[in-house]
Amino acid sequence: MSDQNPPVPASPVDGRQAGIRLGALSSGRGSNLQAIIDACEVGKISAKIAVVVSDKSDALALERARRHRLMAVFLNPKEFPTREDYDERMVEILKQQAVDLVILAGYMRIVTPRLISAYPNRIMNIHPSLLPSFPGLRAPKQALEWGVKVSGCTVHFVNETVDQGPIIFQAAVPVFPEDTEASLSARILEQEHRILTQAIQYFAEGRLQVVGRRVIISPGKADDRSEMEKRDEDRRMEKLRGLVDDAAEKLAAEELSFDDARRLIEWTREQVLSLFPDKAETFDLIYKPRFYRILDEKLHRI
Ligand code: GAR
Repeated sequence: MSDQNPPVPASPVDGRQAGIRLGALSSGRGSNLQAIIDACEVGKISAKIAVVVSDKSDALALERARRHRLMAVFLNPKEFPTREDYDERMVEILKQQAVDLVILAGYMRIVTPRLISAYPNRIMNIHPSLLPSFPGLRAPKQALEWGVKVSGCTVHFVNETVDQGPIIFQAAVPVFPEDTEASLSARILEQEHRILTQAIQYFAEGRLQVVGRRVIISPGKADDRSEMEKRDEDRRMEKLRGLVDDAAEKLAAEELSFDDARRLIEWTREQVLSLFPDKAETFDLIYKPRFYRILDEKLHRI
């Protein structure tokens, strides 16, 4: 039986506890990618996105990566005679960027053993159903058509059978009689963002181990915070994202004098620090340079 296999460490083998390098593969909208980017930027996960690769030239995911000054690569399937050749090149790119963990974040292409064997138990996929139910495409539509009352999402390690790798986390959501594919997908998506970023953090902390079909999760440092405190942090994080997005939008779209722009950045900094007094460094090293780059780009467009 597969459980008799020796345990396979799925987390960094060199003992690093922080700062793993991610390769994110996405074919479209990239909201899961965005959740990872945000979580990295605010230090919620100890990782850095080393490269984003898409099989679609117009994927919004590539645009999101560029906006955050991340390496964004369009790898055109038409340029490769076989799927294996495509994945061969993918592995080269990922290895060049010293990627530790590959994330299939809305990646709609089937991956071949070429990629899987290069990253055994180091590729995670997020899927919008409670696997093994509804693998494949348009899982929320399949779930509605089947008439299930509960659906959800699954984050799992990728093995050679599509959507059947060892499950890391799942989250369930109710299905309501009036649901459409869009409303159910949106409810599931919220949970996807949560469990995918959590799975990456657990991997980065070295807490995941694959034993046969199972992923064993070892306990982390005790989190003594109450549920209320955790919810409060989530709310503050949400506000932080809103503040940063609003400022970026204003800086990009509005005709502001340089002084007004600087005042807006400083005001945003104060608001962020009133929410998270310990995020001064994050603000100065990540958000501030991004804001000034927006101004710089605007200046060069004029
Ligand atoms: C997500 O719902 C993801 O679970 C799904 O595609 C969507 C991508 O959204 N993936 C699959 O169906 C893979 N079989 P995103 O581009 O906004 O992250």
